[in-house]
Amino acid sequence: MDYFQYQQQRLYAENVPVTDITDQYGTPCYIYSRSTIERHWKAFDEALGEQPHLVCYAVKANSNLGVLSVMAKLGSGFDIVSGGELARVIEAGGDPARVVFSGVAKTEAEIAFALEQGIKCFNVESPSELKRINRVAGSMSVTAPISIRVNPDVDAKTHPYISTGLKANKFGIDWEQSLDIYRQAAGMAHLTVVGMDCHIGSQLTDVAPFVDALERLLGLIDQLKAEGIEIDHLDVGGGLGVTYQDEKPPLPADYVKAVVERLQKDHAYLSLIMEPGRAIMANAGIMATKVEFIKQGSEKNFALVDAGMNDMLRPSLYSAWMDIVEVDRSLERETRMYDVVGPVCETGDFIGKDRSLSIDEGDLLVQRSAGAYGFTMASNYNSRCRPAEIMVDKDQVYLVRERESLPDLWKGEHKLP
Ligand code: LLP
Repeated sequence: MDYFQYQQQRLYAENVPVTDITDQYGTPCYIYSRSTIERHWKAFDEALGEQPHLVCYAVKANSNLGVLSVMAKLGSGFDIVSGGELARVIEAGGDPARVVFSGVAKTEAEIAFALEQGIKCFNVESPSELKRINRVAGSMSVTAPISIRVNPDVDAKTHPYISTGLKANKFGIDWEQSLDIYRQAAGMAHLTVVGMDCHIGSQLTDVAPFVDALERLLGLIDQLKAEGIEIDHLDVGGGLGVTYQDEKPPLPADYVKAVVERLQKDHAYLSLIMEPGRAIMANAGIMATKVEFIKQGSEKNFALVDAGMNDMLRPSLYSAWMDIVEVDRSLERETRMYDVVGPVCETGDFIGKDRSLSIDEGDLLVQRSAGAYGFTMASNYNSRCRPAEIMVDKDQVYLVRERESLPDLWKGEHKLP
């Protein structure tokens, strides 16, 4: 459930008409709802209840400081994949002691920065990385808390670009090698083994692959225990899907229940970490865009809008279907089928195809479920300024990122003499 609803046929973000926001800040823009973010975060946290746990929001889904500050105030942990994301978490008031660091190619500088800040855990993705963390920690005379990201070889049954837990994927350490890597880690002077981790993919709509992965991990934890290697926390990653169209993913509460019930059978002592990104943010954000022109071709009608693939890449990159709706449904417009396309010079530049819409030139549209992997994947392709980002909190509107200006486009560039 989210707080973007129609009142008298006009779309609102919480208590604010979307048109008030676009009148003030222009289009295209991203609009987030604080109440929705909090509701979704709490859906995980409250379902986890008495089980010792930490919800580590996956920063890559949306790393705006306004968003991160809301999470920080909730007491959230964070899953990061770069030094840049760690810096953002700290800038937003997040607690580094609640940060887990994933990612396949962490640099020495990133490792040193994370150790200085005292993060909770490194999720290690290769034997070489293990050695690197041990060396950097040694040079700083500290001990690094680590967990191994195990690749459990289960099929998440999602889009191949966002599936991560198969043998053919670059992520994590192969299931069969994990035991040996843990033994190596346990013998390294500047490492402490604290956890086990996995992340099998994103936009999963079924709990079965999560539970299959969990079963494999618990077996591995038992084998380690028998060798005297104790694991304190189990990080099951992120990946819970959302409804973009007609998917029916489990609710956070149902997903959490399945995991916790399995743990309570014989591993209740483990502290549980979850790394949801999309499930918290996707439906907590929309992208507003204006119809610049309508063009009628012989085969198709095009709604040419002011947001392109540089602003929202998901449809172009993954053929992702995201809902597109009119902001003002009280306007009397003819209903037609449109391809909703952007201004970028690429055939693949579209935000939706074959959509039935009642629109005219100058009208506003909203792409729904745009709060996750929207702005964070935006670029300046075609020298386009990235959009403004706005957070609504009941009837308050906060600009959480200004629209980029033209000089921002060449900031840091230099002409030749
Ligand atoms: N943890 C790790 C280690 C991850 O790699 C990811 C996402 C997450 C957590 C969060 O997953 P989520 O709960 O959001 O599914 N750009 C793609 C999604 C890429 C996901 C990458 N990893 C998209 O727009 O669909």
